[in-house]
Amino acid sequence: MPLVTSTEMFRKAYEGGYAIGAFNVNNMEIVQGITEAAAELNAPLILQVSKGARAYANHTYLMKLVEAAIIETGLPIVLHLDHGDSYEVCKSCIDGGFTSVMIDASSKPFEENIALTRRVVEYAHDHGVVVEAELGTLAGIEDEVKVSHEDSSYTRPEDVQEFVERTGCDSLAIAIGTSHGAYKFKPGTKPQLRFDILEDVEKRLPGFPIVLHGSSSVPQEFVRIINENGGNMPGAVGVPEEQLRQAAGMAVCKINIDSDLRLAMTASIRKYFNEHPDHFDPRQYLGPGRAAIKEMVKHKIVDVLGCDGKA
Ligand code: G3H
Ligand code: 13P
Ligand code: ZN
Repeated sequence: MPLVTSTEMFRKAYEGGYAIGAFNVNNMEIVQGITEAAAELNAPLILQVSKGARAYANHTYLMKLVEAAIIETGLPIVLHLDHGDSYEVCKSCIDGGFTSVMIDASSKPFEENIALTRRVVEYAHDHGVVVEAELGTLAGIEDEVKVSHEDSSYTRPEDVQEFVERTGCDSLAIAIGTSHGAYKFKPGTKPQLRFDILEDVEKRLPGFPIVLHGSSSVPQEFVRIINENGGNMPGAVGVPEEQLRQAAGMAVCKINIDSDLRLAMTASIRKYFNEHPDHFDPRQYLGPGRAAIKEMVKHKIVDVLGCDGKA
């Protein structure tokens, strides 16, 4: 099976009350951990590549790793550009074989966001590629860009219909209180997603797929393991998984998770080094790192996304 777009996946997810996991990939072990988990659970899958991942691993390497995963698993997989910040990077991914791109012009004024998104949509649709756009700004860190909670802003439901109509985008990322990175909310706080905004958006865009970024839950168990094995991470609270499950039952069809996989992999490798100070073969510690990612993705598919058995 070749790479697919998310059109059919989102239609089924919307109707079925579940969401597809969009997991970030940067190297072979991460691709393998994620795709082995999805294959064992027969789950549809979006693998996403950030600008930073392309700079780190190189477009062709990532493309070929994902092609290998398709051959090995037979799964329907979408290859998606995460947080494309210009027409040029989106075009380069479309020309280079991605089946989905995000143009993230959410930090620009409304009219500029529309104009840039529209331009990407025209090129993408001419090449059979789908486009995710964003309205509203999340707090947190992505690709070295830091947005404080004060500078973040919830999506205004009254804007979404005009935005989707004028841009022609295929899915829309909205800001309802999620946040990027491993340091989302202060320890002791109780994050609460704005389901009232999600419901309002859903009413204004019936049947239209909504995306949540910044949806890691930052399990404290992993932070504890990292810190017990030589790390020094401050504590933080992530997005509660039961709220993500609730969102997946609504219009949210794609949920982005990166930080939780990083935490799982890093915790396992730190623990391994602590227990085996004399080992130096990368396979010995990258293997457990890959297994930790696989376990985390299985948990997300079954307990958060609800997309097991839906491939
Ligand atoms: O939202 C951003 C993703 O977690 C990707 O992070 O830009 O460090 O690759 P990155
Ligand atoms: P997390 O940092 O919460 O994993 O979010 C990832 C993300 O939104 C990628 O686009
Ligand atoms: Zn994101």
